[in-house]
Amino acid sequence: MIAIINGPNLNLLGKRQPEIYGSESFETFLRSLRKRFPETPIEYFQSNSEGEIIDYIHKLGYDSPDCKGIVINPAAYTHYSIGIADAIAAIQIPVVEVHISNIMGREEFRHTSVTAPYCKGLLAGFGLEGYALAITFLLGK
Ligand code: DQA
Repeated sequence: MIAIINGPNLNLLGKRQPEIYGSESFETFLRSLRKRFPETPIEYFQSNSEGEIIDYIHKLGYDSPDCKGIVINPAAYTHYSIGIADAIAAIQIPVVEVHISNIMGREEFRHTSVTAPYCKGLLAGFGLEGYALAITFLLGK
């Protein structure tokens, strides 16, 4: 099983700033993603709350022995959540951070990720395809 975690405002994908994040909802994308990885169950969790994301990372890390990897887009929390960074550091499962947009080409406050140092890798700017690239990497591990 691979888990995907999306942080705040990503429930609005498809509606929110489509010029930056595209016009497809994550639910629609997830249906096609699951078809591309038919052998791999993909669990999806989205929350606008930092604590819920931390609790879910703990659950995956300590109570989900079948979880082979985590793809996380912490969204705005990327830039300041030491709590989510610590939760990623606290588990053994490999984590890949994904950003739909190229955060390095946007406002300066988006150039910093406090969570990426605890991840195996970081993908930014590949749109929703970044989630598929991250899963391909995690399945090859
Ligand atoms: C984002 C980039 C973040 O800076 C922003 O706060 C988001 C989405 C991305 O996927 O490009 O909400 O993580």
